[in-house]
Amino acid sequence: MNSSRFWVRLGLYSALTAAWVSMMGSLYFSEVMRFTPCTLCWFQRVLMYPLAGLIAFGILRRDHHLPFLVLPFSLLGQGVAVYHYLLQKTSIFGQPASCGLGVTCSSVWIDWFGIVTIPLLSVFGFMAITIGMLMVIAGGENRPNLVGAYRWPRWPVPVIVVIAVALYVAEAVRAGEMEVSLPEIHISLPSSVPFLDLSTGATPTPVPTATPTSQEKGESLYAQACASCHGAQGEGVEGLGTALADSPYVSQLSDDAMLALIRDGRAADADDNRTGLAMPPRGGQSELSDEQIGFIILVIRDWQ
Ligand code: HEC
Repeated sequence: MNSSRFWVRLGLYSALTAAWVSMMGSLYFSEVMRFTPCTLCWFQRVLMYPLAGLIAFGILRRDHHLPFLVLPFSLLGQGVAVYHYLLQKTSIFGQPASCGLGVTCSSVWIDWFGIVTIPLLSVFGFMAITIGMLMVIAGGENRPNLVGAYRWPRWPVPVIVVIAVALYVAEAVRAGEMEVSLPEIHISLPSSVPFLDLSTGATPTPVPTATPTSQEKGESLYAQACASCHGAQGEGVEGLGTALADSPYVSQLSDDAMLALIRDGRAADADDNRTGLAMPPRGGQSELSDEQIGFIILVIRDWQ
């Protein structure tokens, strides 16, 4: 066995694996965890999902053009994913407002170790596919009229596809039976937590007193972090978030309970979920401090 063929196989099957894991993973986030994909997420999906089929088909057909069909998608997808990640983690593109589907593109649904967010996973997915295809090209197997072109094995295709789908189904079933626990996700906490910590059951939340400035701060924070789902004046947005103004449910919530709810969010299938829609922790803005949430609570109280 010639060693370049080893790299060709490795490239093909790892690209296939990356495409299927990315597709099933993104479906898991949206369908099982009920995270709402933003517009940029949709662009990445549009570029990733066809690759799952295209790469499988290309391997089965032993099509030596495959890298040239795949690379435009994977490179473009990688560009979008890198842009999305920088938008979330840096301010070099300014503060984006909502970019179309209600959820802001800078919303952070998961934030593992303060680094790994969904767009970063997407960067890795597209990168693995790109590298895989470059390995095929480097292996010299991209010349279609090569006499005796390499006939790579096809059996890994059904194996990889079945494993990816089975993992998704297993997770979906598990989530349906057991509570999907947002606590499994590591939320990066602000370094100073002056307010109540539910686990130690301690101090009541000192909601800041309503000075004009804290009210103004609250309003602008609300507009950035919450208005996309709950409406500019707390009137609610169909299919995204409940009405917070004139809400009997909200008015009976204590400040502590409201802070805890906003800080921790509420999974779509949590026992106390009222709508079947997910409320992301801190409205998806992981950098929102408890103090800032206190300002937002003032604004919401004002609407009752
Ligand atoms: C991605 C959309 C989304 C964003 C962004 C969001 N929420 Fe929510 N929020 C929801 C959904 C959906 C619910 C209802 C959950 C349920 O059914 O129990 C909810 C529930 C709430 C509730 C409880 C009231 C109720 O009717 O259940 C409060 C209070 C609240 N959100 C405040 C906020 C604040 C403050 C922010 C900004 C920091 C925010 N939300 C950002 C989607 C969102």
